[in-house]
Amino acid sequence: MGTCYITRKEHFNAAHRLYVDKWTEERNAEVFGKCANKNWHGHNFTLYVTVKGEPDPDTGFIIDLKVLSELIKEKVVDKLDHNNLNMDVDFLKGIMPSIENIVMAIWQQLEPHIKGCKLHCIKLIETENNYVEYFG
Ligand code: NI
Repeated sequence: MGTCYITRKEHFNAAHRLYVDKWTEERNAEVFGKCANKNWHGHNFTLYVTVKGEPDPDTGFIIDLKVLSELIKEKVVDKLDHNNLNMDVDFLKGIMPSIENIVMAIWQQLEPHIKGCKLHCIKLIETENNYVEYFG
């Protein structure tokens, strides 16, 4: 028996704005471009959650993907989907909602609840060209 990696994919849509309050409008525009737009912008995010472990001898599963999916929905997707990441999400309060910071916050949300295997990677795709991976 060896270690396997299994991934569940989920989606959410959300709005955000990248903006540092203590900076001038000009500085924000220079650093964040359109992402600093005052009236927000949105993305269709794709989230990949990968766990690692050894398959159970009876089920052949590392984790029941239904259970993992429910956990991701409850702890992450239901809180983010159709919300404003700067304002509406308890676990992102006071956090600049860059994809790097979002992915690390998602790790914190999920990691304590993963039983019988280990959280390995969280990957968040923001656009066709931009994504981030976090390994804890
Ligand atoms: Ni954005």
